[in-house]
Amino acid sequence: MNDTTLNFYRANSEEYAADGSAPNPRLFTFLSQCKPNGRVLELGTGGGVDAAAIIENGFKLDATDGSSELAAIASLRIRQPVKTMLFSELDANGVYDGVYACASLTHAPRHELGQVISRIYRAMTENAVVWASFKAGDEEGLDALGRYYNYFEQSQLISLWQASAPWKKIEIEAWTGGAYDRKPTEWLAITAMK
Ligand SMILES: C[S@@+](CC[C@H](N)C(=O)[O-])C[C@H]1O[C@@H](n2cnc3c(N)ncnc32)[C@H](O)[C@@H]1O
Repeated sequence: MNDTTLNFYRANSEEYAADGSAPNPRLFTFLSQCKPNGRVLELGTGGGVDAAAIIENGFKLDATDGSSELAAIASLRIRQPVKTMLFSELDANGVYDGVYACASLTHAPRHELGQVISRIYRAMTENAVVWASFKAGDEEGLDALGRYYNYFEQSQLISLWQASAPWKKIEIEAWTGGAYDRKPTEWLAITAMK
């Protein structure tokens, strides 16, 4: 884990959590693919905006974040505990009907992401769906705020997901959107079914 990334979220937790209050519009397509009222795992919940929408839509949620400061803020928002957990610490087996990781696994070191994907696969029930978004680019690096990004090209990202677990279905979507640093950002999102 690149310490400067989590240090950024720890030191700027209040500002980060106060930035934006509308859920990710793509969240609802993901939820429509999950077993209704099923159990969802969120990796990197941040301030908990999407977490609140997941719960409001009738799902049971295990929300997690690597920053205890953001976990504390999100737990107040969603009125349930948010676990402080690194991606690499995920150890569940056959539990989740959905796994949601918005702009979080994009911080996982390139050389660790395959193992994290395998852990996600193991944590899921049969036919469960995972949605995970990434910043696009051709090589890993730090942004102007000191945060590490794995920055994948579309073909590299889907190849890594395919190589890391035997998904029944896998799709990738690309779009241009915004980000916390206010820069126009090329996003990629994986949707995969176990
Ligand atoms: C860009 S924010 C996204 C937060 C939220 N999902 C959203 O869309 O607003 C990335 C989140 O990932 C968390 N994070 C970064 N590295 C992590 C790691 N190795 N393990 C767990 N969480 C991590 C950060 O603390 C932060 O909350």
